[in-house]
Amino acid sequence: MADTDGLLDARDFGGAAATTAGFHVKGAHAQDWGLQNRLSRIFRPDNGRTVMLAFDHGYFLGPMAGLERIDTNIAPLVPDADAIMMTRGALRTSIPPHSSAGIVLRASGGPSVLKDLSDEHIALDIEDAVRLNAAALAIQVFIGGEHESRSVANLAALVDAGQRHGVAVLGVTAVGKDMVRDARYFRLATRISAEMGAHIVKTYYVNEGFETVTASCPVPIIVAGGKKLPELDALTMAYRAMQEGAAGVDMGRNIFQSEYPAAMLAAVRAVVHDDAKPEDAYELFRERSAGSAS
Ligand code: 5RP
Repeated sequence: MADTDGLLDARDFGGAAATTAGFHVKGAHAQDWGLQNRLSRIFRPDNGRTVMLAFDHGYFLGPMAGLERIDTNIAPLVPDADAIMMTRGALRTSIPPHSSAGIVLRASGGPSVLKDLSDEHIALDIEDAVRLNAAALAIQVFIGGEHESRSVANLAALVDAGQRHGVAVLGVTAVGKDMVRDARYFRLATRISAEMGAHIVKTYYVNEGFETVTASCPVPIIVAGGKKLPELDALTMAYRAMQEGAAGVDMGRNIFQSEYPAAMLAAVRAVVHDDAKPEDAYELFRERSAGSAS
């Protein structure tokens, strides 16, 4: 085991994150055909980016605002997402099977919001994931949390199953209430997830040094939206994340809790896929929301 006393802080991150030559998803050039094909259902081959709509929150929060009815609130948005992230229960009960979005299945669970959230287990068999045509499996990693070690072991076990079947794994860096959310922490959490084999890592945006998080992670970083913000602020965050090396967003509340979710999804797409400036994307949001049903 390396001596941890007197560790030197990382310094040279070598510029913005790049994709790996030969394949449009960073770090996946040496993966098998099936896994590359599944990653291509998430990340658009023409630009290596994704707009993933996340609505898995009910797995520990129950029916939160915006997710009271997945069949009526969320299903109509699915055609405009590149990928969707949800539990298998939500997928089987509420999402039409003719959907073409890449399927990202929540694969961990256990504690509700009333308990220690880091006390998670793998909650999905790879066989069922393949049956559901999953492109990727999502699992929470609690670096610094009470059950850090088990969550990392869960991730590694899921990567083993995923590699056997050509299914990608999305490591979700979870943040506890009392944890500092800065670039140093997210460099640690994202890098551990990638080194344990995650093919994609989800994290949060930070105002200072986010480009060091994307640069030091050898697989694509996608950013969570986090709690609901005014639309322009959420679009600004997404824009900055993209300009600083993110490969897309995995956004939930800032879309489905907007008064106009379809308009917000269109605006986020403009930021991610067309490099639209936040103000221009916000204008698009306003145009699309004018006169549309909320
Ligand atoms: C819940 C999740 C969410 O999918 C993730 O946080 C993205 O949603 P939001 O944009 O609402 O933060 O992983 O555990």
